[in-house]
Amino acid sequence: MSQLLYEGKAKKMFTTDDPNVLRVVYKNDATAFNGKKKAVFPGKGKLNNAICTRIFHVLQGKGIPTHFIDKISETEQLVKAVDIIPIEVVVRNVVAGSLAKRFGLDEGVRLGRTIIEFYYKSDELGDPMINDDHAQAIGLATEKDLAEIRSLAARVNTILQDLFSEAGILLVDFKIEFGRLKTTGDIVLADEISPDSCRLWDRKTHEKLDKDVFRRNIADLPETYEKLLNRLEGVK
Ligand code: TMP
Ligand code: ASP
Repeated sequence: MSQLLYEGKAKKMFTTDDPNVLRVVYKNDATAFNGKKKAVFPGKGKLNNAICTRIFHVLQGKGIPTHFIDKISETEQLVKAVDIIPIEVVVRNVVAGSLAKRFGLDEGVRLGRTIIEFYYKSDELGDPMINDDHAQAIGLATEKDLAEIRSLAARVNTILQDLFSEAGILLVDFKIEFGRLKTTGDIVLADEISPDSCRLWDRKTHEKLDKDVFRRNIADLPETYEKLLNRLEGVK
């Protein structure tokens, strides 16, 4: 028996016969601005499943602990069950998006160092930015957890910068989430990494290969994601 456990903006999670394993179904829905902008793109779920699978394989191959088990169909994955840590971890290499807005900086300027930001994962509150003190004081994570999360996020950044660079793509910024395995409590990379949650620009032209094409009405989303997948598949 498979029961719907949770439906998010871009994915559904179902139970499986094994309480420690869940089935993820990638939907064709796209949302932006905390769900205020919405559309359905046939083929999006399949593309994000393929892209995310490729990325998690590479990360696992480099020793990053993740929830990923296997891709089981065009739109489905099996993952290990976790308790999600309600912190959205944003990693930035190049100025874009809310960072550009907040500091009045030009998009596209390379940062003097990588920035890791934490946001409290709450749709009702609009994901407010928090620091380590907030995270500890309101009981989201311990000091040790946060150190591990920062270290994993930095390693993920290095590995993905290399992967995308080989595909001629600049990893501008991305958002990741972590969870605690139901079985051991270990912290692992969870959720997804896809063009929904990253900014990816062609290194030469700065053409956008991510959800900003939808947020900003720049180009067709499935065509853009297909282009990204083809470029990733070209990397050996
Ligand atoms: P931002 O510049 O809007 O703060 O976004 C930073 C990165 O995080 C960008 O790659 C998009 C991603 N992101 C999400 O995945 N989910 C979100 O809800 C937001 C706001 C950003
Ligand atoms: N993921 C958020 C939403 O759907 C925000 C975004 O990515 O722009 O609304």
